[in-house]
Amino acid sequence: MCGIIGYTGRKNAVPILLEGLRCLEYRGYDSAGIAAAGADGIVCMKSKGRISDLEALLEARYPKLISHTGIGHTRWATHGAPSDENAHPHGTGLVFAVHNGIIENYAELRVRLKALGYSFHSDTDTEAAVCLIDYHYRRLRDPVSAIAAAVRELRGSWALGILFADREGELYATRHESPLVAASEDSGSYIASDITALLDHTDRYIRLDEGEIAFLNADGVRVCRMDGSVVEKEVQTVTWNRDAARRGGFAHFMLKEIHEEPEAILRTVGSCTRGMLPEFDADRLDWEAVCHAPHIHIVACGTAMHAGLVGKRFIEQYAGIPTSVEIASEFRYSPPIPAKGDLFIAISQSGETADTLAALRLAKSLAMDSLSLVNVVGSSVSRESDSVIYTCAGPEIAVASTKAYLVQLTVLYLLAVRLGFANGNLSEQEAQTLVAALASDAPPAVSRMIARSQEIRTVAEKIQKAEDVFFIGRGMDYFLAEEASLKLKEVSYIHSEAYPAGELKHGTISLITDGVPVVAIATSRALYDKMISNIREVRARGAFVVMLCGEDFPEPETIANTVIRLPALPEALMPLPAAAAFQLLAYHASVLRGCDVDKPRNLAKSVTVE
Ligand code: AGP
Repeated sequence: MCGIIGYTGRKNAVPILLEGLRCLEYRGYDSAGIAAAGADGIVCMKSKGRISDLEALLEARYPKLISHTGIGHTRWATHGAPSDENAHPHGTGLVFAVHNGIIENYAELRVRLKALGYSFHSDTDTEAAVCLIDYHYRRLRDPVSAIAAAVRELRGSWALGILFADREGELYATRHESPLVAASEDSGSYIASDITALLDHTDRYIRLDEGEIAFLNADGVRVCRMDGSVVEKEVQTVTWNRDAARRGGFAHFMLKEIHEEPEAILRTVGSCTRGMLPEFDADRLDWEAVCHAPHIHIVACGTAMHAGLVGKRFIEQYAGIPTSVEIASEFRYSPPIPAKGDLFIAISQSGETADTLAALRLAKSLAMDSLSLVNVVGSSVSRESDSVIYTCAGPEIAVASTKAYLVQLTVLYLLAVRLGFANGNLSEQEAQTLVAALASDAPPAVSRMIARSQEIRTVAEKIQKAEDVFFIGRGMDYFLAEEASLKLKEVSYIHSEAYPAGELKHGTISLITDGVPVVAIATSRALYDKMISNIREVRARGAFVVMLCGEDFPEPETIANTVIRLPALPEALMPLPAAAAFQLLAYHASVLRGCDVDKPRNLAKSVTVE
């Protein structure tokens, strides 16, 4: 989604802002801009398109711009089309701001502000917030009081970076339901919507909490509440290496992140096990009670939701607890009638997904115990849930989620074993055997799969011109098919759909004609014969069949056009190498089609609007 960067200090702010915006590119955007205080007042430049377009504009208009205070933004359009006018920052001449989130009552605010003499130059919701701050600032002459007064009148979500033209060297920020961090080092102080934008400058930062207002100057950051009282903030340190957020020699972040999967699984197993038994730091969770939960409700979006589907299987199989999986954005329309002791699990890589956060809040209002599986430490979902288990994927930059999915599967597997062991469904020895298989066999199997990237590229060459691709599977493989299909369409723009293999003949098989690719995922030996029958059905209609199946499954080559054999593993762990394989298939298809692999069109890494 949109990105925010801000700097005030002794260095030139312009290159810092531009470089910061580049670090935020991965979140997805359609326009970019900066406002920088120069010798002749605030220069505000913005443009539709890429950051390079903004740079060209700056170079043409203000080639020698030196500034010591500025804000920058990458916008992902919500209110108003992507355009120069709608790009941020927005300003009144006195107040300039960048905004992430949505101001829900912007229409009524605009009417009021117009009556007060304000005019609007964009279709955005943001401009109403900027004018409102301007209005209160002219009245109160104090930035913090003006921001607090404006924020009290806003509804929706926001992270705001704000400059006042008559406050040289000062930068202000506030947030509500949209993340924002602040940091300072010897040369000056920064704000950013995401710490990755600040890693070139510092690894120490503070996270603004709901409703807090930050005041920054060259000497540091001060945070206060809406009533002006000062808050002592805990300084956090980034735990992962800054190189982890860079491409490190790979052509794309997506490829790099797929290659990091074996290590990410190992790290996650290391952090969630002791003595070959699952052990979590989710200390506020009463495991004794949770392992007897009548029902578990998993809620998430996109890839995280697909991980939840596999997790449901693990939990039901190993812990015997009925589990349901719901898409977060739909959760409020069919909220569960929770029984006493039901557990709500939110899964989120970013921990900032608005729909997942809203579902978590609803679950809490229904008095459900909540646990979140989150990758980003300290994110909103992790802070608002009763307990959290962190997945240890490290930073995931590519919009397409890859390694985060594998570590979500890893944690769900361990969680299922933990619950099963605790409620007596599994013996200690069974639990240890399951964990040992994950710890020792899964990472090398995923590595072996990734090492066959070129073989998978040749398969991608065969499907890259297709208009439609179908993914089929049975049981757990159907859940994998859903994720495989999402990955392919997300990064290659090839239309694709996933079906339970037995369901095709109830309608969709009418779409199978000569040469239409069908990717059959068959990791279960028990379901293999039934899969073979389904593959024969589509072959008979001319489909070009790619089969992903177990290493020792009998004679897939006689049935499919192309076979990708997966490394041998216990069946429950087969989703891990299978996922690496279909992620690589999507990756290569994207590269072959010349798509923007890491930043697919219209998509954002972290979807912070509902
Ligand atoms: C996956 O490739 C997507 N980019 C998307 O489906 C993502 O998984 C979804 O938006 C949820 O994000 P989260 O895990 O950060 O909550």
